[in-house]
Amino acid sequence: QPLSASLTIQAGQPGPQVNRQIFGQFAEHLGAGIYGGIWVGENSKIPNTRGYRNDVLQALRDLKVPVIRWPGGCFADEYNWREGVGPRAKRPVKINTHWGGVTEPNSFGTHEFLDFAELVGAEPYISGNVGSAPPRELAEWVEYVTSPAGSLASERAANGRKDPWKLPYIGLGNELWGCGGNMRAEYAADVTRRYSTFIKVPAGVRILKSASGPSDEDYHWMEVMMRDAGRYFDAIGLHYYTITKNWRVKGSATVFDESEYATTLQATMRMDGFITKHAAIMDKYDPQKRVWLAVDEWGTWFDTEPGTNPGFLYQQNTLRDAIVAALNINIFTRHADRIKMANIAQMINVLQAMILTKDEKMVLTPTYHVFEMFKAYQDATALPIDVKSPWYSKDGSTLPAVSATAVRGKDGLMHIGLVNVDPNAAVTVTAELAGITAASVTGRVLTAPEINTHNTFDQPTAVKPAAFTGASIEAGKLKVVLPAKSVVMLDVQ
Ligand code: AHR
Repeated sequence: QPLSASLTIQAGQPGPQVNRQIFGQFAEHLGAGIYGGIWVGENSKIPNTRGYRNDVLQALRDLKVPVIRWPGGCFADEYNWREGVGPRAKRPVKINTHWGGVTEPNSFGTHEFLDFAELVGAEPYISGNVGSAPPRELAEWVEYVTSPAGSLASERAANGRKDPWKLPYIGLGNELWGCGGNMRAEYAADVTRRYSTFIKVPAGVRILKSASGPSDEDYHWMEVMMRDAGRYFDAIGLHYYTITKNWRVKGSATVFDESEYATTLQATMRMDGFITKHAAIMDKYDPQKRVWLAVDEWGTWFDTEPGTNPGFLYQQNTLRDAIVAALNINIFTRHADRIKMANIAQMINVLQAMILTKDEKMVLTPTYHVFEMFKAYQDATALPIDVKSPWYSKDGSTLPAVSATAVRGKDGLMHIGLVNVDPNAAVTVTAELAGITAASVTGRVLTAPEINTHNTFDQPTAVKPAAFTGASIEAGKLKVVLPAKSVVMLDVQ
């Protein structure tokens, strides 16, 4: 019996904007996330622009990366921004005590990050040190970056940048419940109020202050932060990592069977419930939805690749990761009224990366291709959608086989993002497009022979998008034959 699903899309009832910031990235001083992945230095034999790898710059521009969070993560609450400005040769060499105990040369600091973000065309999101530095340090960092006048602006000019930068987002610490200081929610709320007080920007300049939010289902954290400190921030984070087994044994990124595949996808779908409940708490204190929910760390976390430094969190990326990415993007799109930013962990060479590099080689991962396929969702208008899907079950894991969202893009077209998680069966989807008369449909598909197919430096295109011919308009309805284990993006005229 072939599987079938049905959709109803209300094309005439525009919903909330799908902020482009939902497609944000996260780049931490961790492993080869910065050094080697972005920054190789001006004297490298790897082709570069002012020290940034040209291949990576181009790939990120092609992806239209909207925002990049930096410098951590856990690194952020140990970071002293002063050590990363001024002549590079004079910057202190520190130990990255959180990630691998390796030396941190501080060659990539504030100027390098903001210059890099400008080259990519992305907004910068600086995650400040709240855990181990006084409020003055963060206040002065913001002033150094944004002020047109004063001694910090003069220092900035002497260091090579006369004009202030735009700094749209500042993070008030990271994971204050853990590596950011092991605080209780009640204490963290007070700390957040305090640090927020001293962040000042010049008149007419906007900065969004983002609080360190809960992890997973820590609803107490959300409740206390919103209740006691909600007036002092404009966004609050949520961190949720998809792990297949447990934190000690997380499972291999590439060697897994269908049972593990299903467990991973079921785990990733928990994001939906977490957002629903956190958003309900936020609604209680902020019914106007002024405060953004920013999922500023998410993605798969597997065991590190054999032979690599365990502190570097380097993992491969397969078709399974692509499906995880698309499922989460659809979840964020469905919650676009409250989710206004998300930052996948992490952009390059760390966890669920877009890009892997090795010396002068670079490879785009299946996750990169999903972000690229969803580009038309950036700043699009979400459309209400009703999805009736069969279930996919394996060894006790169960989730809907089909995930779908629809938007009206800035280009005027309707775009429909579809996932079929079932690795063994195609699903025929019939969609009613209420409110428009569709004339034609085109699309692209991402799939591969196996659930663990991945791109390597020797075979960089084993997983890549292809033209999709399985969709048609029949008697005003959209008919799609979704291949097994696939992500499909449709463009409807
Ligand atoms: O992304 C890796 C780490 O995961 C981050 O540094 C931290 O915030 C989280 O626990």
